Amino acid sequence: MTLVVSRFEPAAAADAVLRGYYEVMRASQARDRVDEPRLTYENCVGRLRTPFAGLGPVAHWIATAEGEIVGLATVYLMEGPQNGQLAVTDIQVHPRHRRKGVGTEVLRTLLPWLRENGRTVVEYWQVTKNGDGEHWARGLGMRTTYHNRLQALSLAEHDPKRWRPDTPRGYRLVQWDDAAPDELLESYVRVHRAMRDAPHEGMAYQAPEWTVEGIRAREAEFRESGVRQRVVVAVHERTGEVAGFTELEQHPHRPRWGYQRDTGVLSAHRGHGLGYVVKSRMLTWLLADVPDLELVFTGSNAGNTHMLRVNAELGYTVTREMIAVNQDIDALAVALGRTENDSIGSPS
Ligand SMILES: CC(C)(COP(=O)(O)OP(=O)(O)OC[C@H]1O[C@@H](n2cnc3c(N)ncnc32)[C@H](O)[C@@H]1OP(=O)(O)O)[C@@H](O)C(=O)NCCC(=O)NCCS
Repeated sequence: MTLVVSRFEPAAAADAVLRGYYEVMRASQARDRVDEPRLTYENCVGRLRTPFAGLGPVAHWIATAEGEIVGLATVYLMEGPQNGQLAVTDIQVHPRHRRKGVGTEVLRTLLPWLRENGRTVVEYWQVTKNGDGEHWARGLGMRTTYHNRLQALSLAEHDPKRWRPDTPRGYRLVQWDDAAPDELLESYVRVHRAMRDAPHEGMAYQAPEWTVEGIRAREAEFRESGVRQRVVVAVHERTGEVAGFTELEQHPHRPRWGYQRDTGVLSAHRGHGLGYVVKSRMLTWLLADVPDLELVFTGSNAGNTHMLRVNAELGYTVTREMIAVNQDIDALAVALGRTENDSIGSPS
């Protein structure tokens, strides 16, 4: 088979190309992420039009063989002093075309471009544990850096009365979407430091050093991309400080799903159940606004037993184990050099 790997611009792509892209996504999901609700064409194109916020500029590639799209790649070029060397990458090959060298060829094509863009490390966040991706990555000598336990809350199977959004004495809850209120902004920035305690294992990605400007820039990015970010915080009444927070995103192309993101409580305020309370309030608020809500997804480090237990109490069930893997680009080039003689076709 003759393989051509080329850049892909979703905004300029013909419908037939988008359909081919979707077919790779759909078939890969059916093999690698069996628990997920089936991805529709609109879901897929919606993600192309609404890339994840906060990960930097995104670029896409497709691999074509005899006119059929057989593989794809997505690369986010992360920004900022902590992550400016990092390329967060996803490569997927249609299950029918796996083990023919396609994934390896796509990666080989990407490497010079990644170097030109100042990258020294590639990290993959969405690799199903024990799946094809893990075996492939291991073969290339990549490091396993993070164990992510995914949990989902199905509203069809859950009784929301189980949530207890009652606030412990001495705290009050404040919620907003769009923009943090000015009077809480600085302590909302500070509470993000609680996330530094969350286990990150050996990830190349570093949690950003949040600042007022960084929070405002992130809010603007969500606004521009049509993502609704909801925030619930617990305010310590005596000091007026934000003691705990939780954040959830709703993406425009998946209106009945919620993505539960970071939750953190400052160490001085732990032991009062604030994590459970802010997450309960979040779900109660979300369901009141979106009565036909279907699913909320979240991911936690597999070793973060406290957060996993809180989620289980809220009604989440474990759906899948994922891992993140990474490798230095120089080491990957050496590993790919070893397999060069086995490659098929050549990139255009
Ligand atoms: C990971 C993925 C892109 C690999 O694509 P691919 O085209 O099948 O990979 P290649 O044919 O280039 O594989 C090269 C080598 O990797 C190893 N490998 C790949 N898949 C493997 C598997 N399922 N089991 C064992 N080894 C495997 C083998 O050594 C293989 O060489 P061989 O077939 O000559 O033995 C593909 O499996 C995929 O789409 N997985 C789901 C998405 C994913 O997890 N991506 C990972 C990074 S984000």
